[in-house]
Amino acid sequence: MRLTRLAAEGFRNLAPFELNTDARFIVFHGENAQGKTNALEALWLLATLRPLRGHRLSDLVGWDADEAAIRGEIDRRGISHLHEVELGPRGRSTRLDGDRVELVDYFRAIRAIAFQPSDEEIVSDSPAHRRRWLDRAAFTARPAHLELVRVHRRVLQQKQAALREGAKDDVLDVLDHQLALAGARVAERRDEMLAELEPHARELYERISDHRGELGLIYRTVASGGDLEQRASVLTKRLRESRAGERRRRTTLTGVQRDDVVITIDGHPTRTFGSRGQVRSVVLALKLAELRAARERGDTPLFLIDDVSSELDRSRTSRLVTLLAELGTQVFASTTSPEHLGDLPEDDTLFVSVRDGQLSPGKSQRFADNFEE
Ligand SMILES: Nc1ncnc2c1ncn2[C@@H]1O[C@H](COP(=O)(O)OP(=O)(O)O)[C@@H](O)[C@H]1O
Ligand SMILES: [Mg+2]
Repeated sequence: MRLTRLAAEGFRNLAPFELNTDARFIVFHGENAQGKTNALEALWLLATLRPLRGHRLSDLVGWDADEAAIRGEIDRRGISHLHEVELGPRGRSTRLDGDRVELVDYFRAIRAIAFQPSDEEIVSDSPAHRRRWLDRAAFTARPAHLELVRVHRRVLQQKQAALREGAKDDVLDVLDHQLALAGARVAERRDEMLAELEPHARELYERISDHRGELGLIYRTVASGGDLEQRASVLTKRLRESRAGERRRRTTLTGVQRDDVVITIDGHPTRTFGSRGQVRSVVLALKLAELRAARERGDTPLFLIDDVSSELDRSRTSRLVTLLAELGTQVFASTTSPEHLGDLPEDDTLFVSVRDGQLSPGKSQRFADNFEE
């Protein structure tokens, strides 16, 4: 898929803009605190309906604006779709080709994968970050995954409430039964997703790190097993064993909400032993693996990469650019030093300078229509 046009108004510090983005590489460059990440975030919001950084949606509306509106035209298999998002006092609204649609349909037509400095958390921080990454990857691959996760979370919340209130065993039995089924489904999808990503991530890590170590990914779940039924029965057993403890502590003690992905380099856990550079390379390998896997499924999500120069050294950056060129996806990058990016195809790269919230596309014949003003 390719984003051919991006427009926004009332979004963070950005002045209203409309860009022709029909290029393979779109590079937002400028000094710090000018709005480069905000430009990427406008696109991220359009693609995922979530903020890129850990803020509330309402924080995305410009301080002097009542509402924010973002529009983007996506070209997918020769068909163009118009995506629109508005954030206002009444919350968020979305449209696809002018109509309000189910979110699953909205997401089917636009996908994005982002890589940003804070993504190091995926490797270095708590299991929750790895679960979130894996769930998001599974969601990007198959938007229906979101519903599995939601169902599981809902039952889990009901069970937490029941445990707090000291509910009877028959109430907990029903909830545990539902949890075992929902948990088994979530675990199965996560397992499948990781199995799909692992070989790509391993190979990509080898290339990014220039053959220094072998990456390993292992999904560690309480709901292990060959098929759904097995997973559910393993989970049922564990839930039964935990009942007394859960009653005593009035909280849940087991389930796929505690799963983890163990990430290793040459067999050693990266979380404990990885250097900063290794951690970055691993995260990049994970994100690019998502892209690769998507391409094998016949999909090509947009790739957003924030703050390129601060993230990687020069040799890694140039290997990254080579990889991205191979992957054939459309790339939106932000950087303080565009020269860091090396050899981008001149006739297929759009440079956009970002200064005090003003986006100005650079000179290039192909993008002449950006100069209509
Ligand atoms: N809701 C908002 N309204 C107006 N300005 C905002 C809003 N949120 C952030 N900003 C401003 O945006 C600027 C940072 O933009 P950012 O895209 O993070 O910069 P960078 O170019 O370094 O990536 C800061 O000056 C910040 O004060
Ligand atoms: Mg930034």
